[in-house]
Amino acid sequence: MRKIFLFILPILIIVALVLVVMGFLQVRFEEEKLLDDLERKARAVAEGMELSVRDILLTHNLRNARYLVEKFQHRERRQGCAIYDKEGRIFAVTERFADWQEKDRAYIQEVLSALAPRGAVEQFKEYTLYSYVLPVVDEDNKAVGLIEIIHDTSYVFKRLTEIWKRISVSVAALVILITVIVSFIQKQIFILPVQQLTEWFYQFQKGETDKLRPFVRKDELGRLASEVEQVALSLRVARKAVSQEAEKKIRQEDLWTESKLRSLVQAKIGERALCVVSNREPYMHVLDKEVGRIQCMRPASGVVTALDPVLRSCGGTWIAHGSGDADKKFVNSKDKLGVPPEDNRYILKRVWLSKEEEAGYYYGFANEGLWPLCHITHTRPVFRETDWRMYQKVNQKFAEAVVEELPAKNPFVFIQDYHFTLLGKMIKEKRPDAAVALFWHIPWPNPEVFSICPYYKEILDGMLGCDLIGFHVQYHCNNFLDTANRLLESRVDTEKFSVVRADKETFVRAFPISVDPESADAADLAASIDKLRKDYELGDKTVILGVERIDYTKGIVERLLAVDRFLEKYPQYKDKCVFIQIAAPSRTHIKRYHDLMGEIDELVEKINWKHSDGAAKPLIYLKRHFSTDEVIPFYALADVCIVSSLHDGMNLVAKEYVAAQKDGRGVLILSCFTGAARELTQAVAINPYSTEEFADSIKSAVEMPVEERRRRMEAMREIIKENNVYRWAGSIVAELAALKKA
Ligand code: F6P
Repeated sequence: MRKIFLFILPILIIVALVLVVMGFLQVRFEEEKLLDDLERKARAVAEGMELSVRDILLTHNLRNARYLVEKFQHRERRQGCAIYDKEGRIFAVTERFADWQEKDRAYIQEVLSALAPRGAVEQFKEYTLYSYVLPVVDEDNKAVGLIEIIHDTSYVFKRLTEIWKRISVSVAALVILITVIVSFIQKQIFILPVQQLTEWFYQFQKGETDKLRPFVRKDELGRLASEVEQVALSLRVARKAVSQEAEKKIRQEDLWTESKLRSLVQAKIGERALCVVSNREPYMHVLDKEVGRIQCMRPASGVVTALDPVLRSCGGTWIAHGSGDADKKFVNSKDKLGVPPEDNRYILKRVWLSKEEEAGYYYGFANEGLWPLCHITHTRPVFRETDWRMYQKVNQKFAEAVVEELPAKNPFVFIQDYHFTLLGKMIKEKRPDAAVALFWHIPWPNPEVFSICPYYKEILDGMLGCDLIGFHVQYHCNNFLDTANRLLESRVDTEKFSVVRADKETFVRAFPISVDPESADAADLAASIDKLRKDYELGDKTVILGVERIDYTKGIVERLLAVDRFLEKYPQYKDKCVFIQIAAPSRTHIKRYHDLMGEIDELVEKINWKHSDGAAKPLIYLKRHFSTDEVIPFYALADVCIVSSLHDGMNLVAKEYVAAQKDGRGVLILSCFTGAARELTQAVAINPYSTEEFADSIKSAVEMPVEERRRRMEAMREIIKENNVYRWAGSIVAELAALKKA
């Protein structure tokens, strides 16, 4: 609309200017004509009275003079007449102009001396009047007096105002007419064809190929459309061929690889793009205040570690909260960008949240409520009504963002985690045909624990809007089925592992998440390891590593206490071992997390003071975010890696470490409360709460013979090679596709 107006505005200005100038000339002409008319009338009246006035003045007949001037009193327009003597004094005047005397009438003397008539517009009080003065002379042509005819001119100005009004109405009518005509023409010529073309593209993009009608036009747009149609056709043909090829490939390959997953997605989802939703985005643009430069970083998140390789291999759209402070600078008009930035393999669509939304939905309900509720770590969950409202609002906001992206036929949505328990149902309300899967990346507690949440009914109801819900391990699936059975009006089918609620069936399955085993293949790894040894003065010490977000579920404090006990109990290792803790600050606006950071700082300081001998300290605490490329050399270097989570859905650090241990000399110490412990049985299992046992396990790991290390690590590497992230994603896609077919 604004553009149309900008286009029409100059035309309107020119037309209005022309009309105003013409109106002005017309008004001037009309004014002159009316005043001329007035003068003629006044002159005729004055000349008609001339003889009578001469007699009156010569005979000083005041009675006749009054009679004469009073005749004007009854005229319909405001008129009057004044008779002056030869000195210019008023002899008689019409009663309604009785106070005419008060007016400054210098012109009377001028007419008397020039003996020439005079007509002019005069101002008297609030009136504008026309005065015509005629000298009255005797036979010798000497002045005996004057006649002044006075006319009210208000009707002249009324006429002129009317003319102006008419002109204004014509200008307005013309402006409207021009606007309508030009808009109509512009719409016909430019907007409609562009809209048709846009609609055509939209349908093509959404996959509504049966609705596509040929775009027949002979102009430039028509040519453009026909070119696009050709490209679209080739693309469709190519996709079909790829999908057939894909089916063949899946049958041939045993091991799940990037290419097998790509083939599966092409065969099962085909033209429809995979749509992934998570709170955390895979690439964040943040301003590094120290160097004053914007950096693109990959957040420390299990979801990102697992799903980025999947999306890289299959393409699609990932919808997530744009939480980087410079994120807005890198998106297009639809809030999208191609990622990874250096090699665009899929689309990231960023959803913007206000501070209030982020505080209520993310920090509040998701991380102070659901997170401690699902992790058994004795941190009290907090449920606030305001947080819950924000959580609902943000789920709705994401539902709208997702629905906008869905193709016309059989859309495929893959939701991540506890941030979006309501999303599945919301999407289904708008697109019942969508295949929706939710993967729960954290543990699921038993029904008694889950029922603490005041909103458990709405949450379960929202989750059961999905077709498939995935957990890392069977134990969490069982807990979920128990919860649905006990807390909700629903039927649990223990044969099919599904929950039926109001005719909707949701399948529950375990899909152990994993990593891409090839992701640890870094160039120049040996050089990076040497550099680390030099930078941190590690010499030939045994390196014990810990890598995580600073979170109370990760058991960092318990680990530090165990390291302390290990050094206390086995002081011979003080000079021989060094413990490196990489810790990325996380959810720092939550008090529990803030306090935990302080607690860890203090503990590190205390242990270093207690066990240091000279300059060498047993603990190296690296408190910042490390990129994947930065972490890989640490994994490869570490002789021992400790994962001591108090409770964890899976834990991908354990798997990343195994993937990076190419020479197989590393030992993994793994908490028995992680999902990973069920698969990685060759790790040294610990109970992180048992400090004594934990300290002894560190000793056995450090002392483990090379042969045993290799045997254990090889076994774990085999598991990860097979149960990799491509198998995880492939199983979910295949399961969901099969469920939707059945
Ligand atoms: O698994 C839970 C999870 O949401 C994962 O995405 C990730 O491992 C971690 O928590 C990240 O937390 P956040 O996105 O809150 O930093």
